[in-house]
Amino acid sequence: MAEKELRIGLLTSGGDAPGMNAVIRAVVRTAAHLGMRVYGIKTGYDGLFKGDIDEMTPDDVSGIIHRGGTILRTARCPEMMTEEGQAKAAEICKVLRLDAVVVIGGDGSFKGAESLSRQGVSVIAIPATIDLDMDCSEYTIGFDSAVNTAANAIIHIRDTSSSHERCSVVEVMGRNAGYLALWCGLTGGAEEVLIPENPIDVNSVIEQILRNRAKGKRHNLIVVAEGIGGSDELASEIERVLGIESRATVLGHLQRGGTPSGVDRMHATVMGYIAVEAIKNGELNKAVVYKDGKHKLIDLTEALATKKEYDPKMYEITKIMAI
Ligand code: ADP
Ligand code: F6P
Repeated sequence: MAEKELRIGLLTSGGDAPGMNAVIRAVVRTAAHLGMRVYGIKTGYDGLFKGDIDEMTPDDVSGIIHRGGTILRTARCPEMMTEEGQAKAAEICKVLRLDAVVVIGGDGSFKGAESLSRQGVSVIAIPATIDLDMDCSEYTIGFDSAVNTAANAIIHIRDTSSSHERCSVVEVMGRNAGYLALWCGLTGGAEEVLIPENPIDVNSVIEQILRNRAKGKRHNLIVVAEGIGGSDELASEIERVLGIESRATVLGHLQRGGTPSGVDRMHATVMGYIAVEAIKNGELNKAVVYKDGKHKLIDLTEALATKKEYDPKMYEITKIMAI
C-alpha cells in the first residue's frame, strides 16, 4: 500500500527574528525531500482563523535563507489566548487535515502550540526569539543576529560618546529578560548594564560614573534592558546630578531586522530539518532544542515547564572588563 502523504501546517508567531525565513526554507525543502506537503499559514495563529493559508513548494522558498523577517509574516493573536479560540484553531487544523503543525516562535507561541496539542492536533515547536528567554533551549533563533546588530550600534554610539565626553545610555530589547542587554553590554564594552534580573539603583550608576571619570575615562556607556526601561530619565538624572552631558538612545526594532548571521542560519536550517524528520518518524508534540551542544527533541510540555535561571557570571565579567 502506498504511504500516506503527510500534510504539515507551518507558521511563524510572536515577534519576528532573523533566521525565521531560513527555518521556513528548511521545513519546506525537507518536506519535499521526504514526500510531504507544506501549507504556509500567514500571520501566525491569526492566519488559521482567517484561512490565510497556501501550499508552499521548494521554489517558494528560494532566495530567502539570508533575508530577515518572515515571508509568512507574523502577529500576536489574542484570540489564541482564549479557550474558545484554541478549540476553534484546533478544529480548523482538523478540517485542513493537517497531520502536524510546525510553530516557529518564542515562549508565547510555544504555549499556543501546546494548547493545540492538548486538543489533539500534533505539533512541533522551534524556538525563535531575539530574547533568548527560553529555558528549554540554550539557543533561540535570531539571538546572534540581534546581538551583532545591537552591539555594532553600541560601538558606533561609543565613538561619538567618547569624542564628546558624554554619557550614553542605550536601551535594548529583550522584553522581561536581560540576556540580550547583557550580551550587548559585554560585547559593546559597556561600563554598566541594567537588567531586570539584577537591578541596580541610579545612585550606584552615578557613583560608577564618578569613579570612571576619576580614572580618566572619557565616555560612559550604560546599557539598559527594556525590562528596566526609563533610559531617557536615567540620562537626564545623570546630567542633572553630575553635570555630564548625557544622551539616551532606544535601539528599538532595528535589532530585530536584517540579514541573519551564519550562526542563525545554521541553527534555523538544522532545527527545521529535525522538525520535519520528527513528523515523518511520528515523534510528535515535541520542541526542537539546542542543549549541551546538540540539537534534540524534547516533549513540548517539558519545554515549557522551567524558567530560565540568570547566571550572574557574565555580569561580573562585564564589570571586570570595565575597570
Ligand atoms: P513569543 O512567541 O515571541 O513569546 P508572544 O508571547 O507575543 O510572542 O506570543 C505569540 C502568540 O502566541 C500570542 O499572540 C498568542 O497568539 C500565542 N500565545 C501566547 N501565550 C499563549 C497562551 N498562554 N496560550 C495560547 N496561546 C498563546
Ligand atoms: O520578543 C521579541 C521582542 O522584540 C521583545 O524583545 C520586545 O519586548 C517585543 O518583541 C516587542 O514587540 P513589538 O514588536 O510587538 O513591539
